[in-house]
Amino acid sequence: MLSSITIILGIAAIAASADIPAGIMPANSTNTTSSALNPFGTGFLLSNSSSGYVYNATGNLTSREPRPFTPSGGLANNGSVPNYHPLTDFDYESLLLALYQEFIELDLFEFGLRTFSVAQFQQFGLDANDRALIEFMAEQERGHVMLIENILGPSAINRCNYTYPFTNVVEFVDFCRKVTRWGESGVYGFLEHLDSRDSAQLLLQSVTTEARQEMIFRQFEGLFPMPVWFQTGITQSMAWTLLAPYISGCSRDSPRVAWQNFPALNITNNPNPAAPNATLPSNSTSPNATASTAPFSNSTTLPGSNLTIVPGITSNRTGFSFPGRVLQLAGDFPGKPVGPNNSYTTNSSAGAPRFAAWISQLNTTYTALENVQNRTDGWTATTTQPSDTIWPNVSEPIVNGSMFIIATDANISVTPYNISELNSHIVAGPAVYLAG
Ligand SMILES: *[C@@H]1O[C@H](CO)[C@@H](O)[C@H](O)[C@H]1NC(C)=O
Ligand SMILES: *[C@@H]1O[C@H](CO)[C@@H](O)[C@H](O)[C@H]1NC(C)=O
Ligand SMILES: *[C@@H]1O[C@H](CO)[C@@H](O)[C@H](O)[C@H]1NC(C)=O
Ligand SMILES: *[C@@H]1O[C@H](CO)[C@@H](O)[C@H](O)[C@H]1NC(C)=O
Ligand SMILES: *[C@@H]1O[C@H](CO)[C@@H](O)[C@H](O)[C@H]1NC(C)=O
Ligand SMILES: *[C@@H]1O[C@H](CO)[C@@H](O)[C@H](O)[C@H]1NC(C)=O
Ligand SMILES: *[C@@H]1O[C@H](CO)[C@@H](O)[C@H](O)[C@H]1NC(C)=O
Ligand SMILES: *[C@@H]1O[C@H](CO)[C@@H](O)[C@H](O)[C@H]1NC(C)=O
Ligand SMILES: *[C@@H]1O[C@H](CO)[C@@H](O)[C@H](O)[C@H]1NC(C)=O
Ligand SMILES: *[C@@H]1O[C@H](CO)[C@@H](O)[C@H](O)[C@H]1NC(C)=O
Ligand SMILES: *[C@@H]1O[C@H](CO)[C@@H](O)[C@H](O)[C@H]1NC(C)=O
Ligand SMILES: *[C@@H]1O[C@H](CO)[C@@H](O)[C@H](O)[C@H]1NC(C)=O
Repeated sequence: MLSSITIILGIAAIAASADIPAGIMPANSTNTTSSALNPFGTGFLLSNSSSGYVYNATGNLTSREPRPFTPSGGLANNGSVPNYHPLTDFDYESLLLALYQEFIELDLFEFGLRTFSVAQFQQFGLDANDRALIEFMAEQERGHVMLIENILGPSAINRCNYTYPFTNVVEFVDFCRKVTRWGESGVYGFLEHLDSRDSAQLLLQSVTTEARQEMIFRQFEGLFPMPVWFQTGITQSMAWTLLAPYISGCSRDSPRVAWQNFPALNITNNPNPAAPNATLPSNSTSPNATASTAPFSNSTTLPGSNLTIVPGITSNRTGFSFPGRVLQLAGDFPGKPVGPNNSYTTNSSAGAPRFAAWISQLNTTYTALENVQNRTDGWTATTTQPSDTIWPNVSEPIVNGSMFIIATDANISVTPYNISELNSHIVAGPAVYLAG
């Protein structure tokens, strides 16, 4: 059953429904219950129909150009004056979420610089130039905050109070890596759905800056700067779920966020980038620095190489995880207070946990949850890292970089532009997995 056909970069994108998994390697999909996104089928579709539009791609212009050197079509390129303002609740709430995100980044960068001494930064290989870069990133966040405040107008929120899960520089840098990752992915998930294309343009120009921040924090950790081919997008509710636990209090007149807070999901054995052997599991959400007195010291993580783990433009230090690795997951039951002033409550409309959704690059791939066991306040399960690549016959694995794992009750097919269909199936999560 074909549920959608879209054109992405001129190549036919075909998503199958869950009952006919469009697995990337269907005959080999023992590890992968349903690889929901293999967006690219084979061959070109010359003709495509979407929302009443029909376009036959011949390589030649098909209509007269309305202006010289201006092919017909496109949105808002007819000289109309831009209106940088939300047009719908969807726009307002998406931008509000983005503002909550920009504020925590501003506060986080300032907090790290204020909290740790020059010597503490130096101990982890970060010098005055590196600190100046973090300070400049805080400046960038001030700019992003001003931008969204201007778009939202008088009802924009102020800075809140935050609670951070780190006690040293290496944990701080690692937390920054995660926050900028979900900040970036959280915006990619809704940008193309905004009614206000005008506002989307401005937000695009700030989120691309955020993408550079994420990469720099990877470089500070001595990680390979960009191990993926595509940066993934997640929904507003997924981003809010990741963000809200770290916001302790906001002023009472702050507008409320309409997105969902899903129950928390932890990966108990997330790879630990600070450990000499990063593939060794760490039970904490951030690296356990006491377990490794020299977090950026030499490592033999990768077979056949003796790497020196120091901050750097690049290194071969990636691939902390591998197909067949068993992940230990712990999920909360819904109903827990969370977020600013504990005034939100985690919520799920899904049934029992059955699948892990691996959201990375262009793909959402599922593996079965095994050994599901209920505890008093939640549940635990295991699942096995799949081996798929993003397309058949390419080297790039789906699972790489900092990516997202969600526990779901079903393995529905979603592709990047309809990933919000997943929301109603989320049992817990997302969690950020450091796959490579
Ligand atoms: C399954 O995987 C093996 C090993 O990668 C490969 O040789 C084989 O061709 C695959 N089978 C199919 C049907 O793709
Ligand atoms: C697209 O191509 C089909 C088949 O050649 C043709 O019937 C149709 O009129 C074309 N549509 C447009 C908008 O050119
Ligand atoms: C594109 O235009 C060229 C030059 O007019 C013509 O020779 C060619 O047949 C056209 N191709 C298609 C697919 O219409
Ligand atoms: C932030 O925390 C400080 C110190 O506890 C408190 O005085 C202030 O009211 C808090 N602000 C908000 C917005 O919660
Ligand atoms: C790193 O830890 C993994 C277990 O997670 C182990 O298989 C591997 O041999 C270790 N590598 C080194 C160099 O100790
Ligand atoms: C980490 O979690 C695993 C699985 O829950 C457990 O067996 C192990 O004892 C924990 N280790 C620490 C240091 O807490
Ligand atoms: C961190 O490592 C130390 C030393 O190995 C250990 O005693 C402690 O329990 C660990 N903490 C966590 C949160 O895993
Ligand atoms: C790392 O490797 C360098 C060069 O081989 C060596 O001088 C240094 O002592 C090593 N550091 C650690 C912490 O092992
Ligand atoms: C890594 O270091 C060990 C011990 O110094 C050495 O025996 C080995 O040859 C080195 N491996 C590589 C690939 O350099
Ligand atoms: C890094 O990895 C690539 C690809 O595996 C390899 O060709 C290269 O030699 C490695 N470089 C170092 C410095 O280990
Ligand atoms: C499943 O994962 C295991 C462990 O990595 C691997 O050896 C095997 O080839 C995978 N099977 C498929 C069909 O991908
Ligand atoms: C996840 O880990 C955090 C921090 O260690 C802890 O507070 C929380 O209870 C854990 N949640 C679950 C569902 O295990």
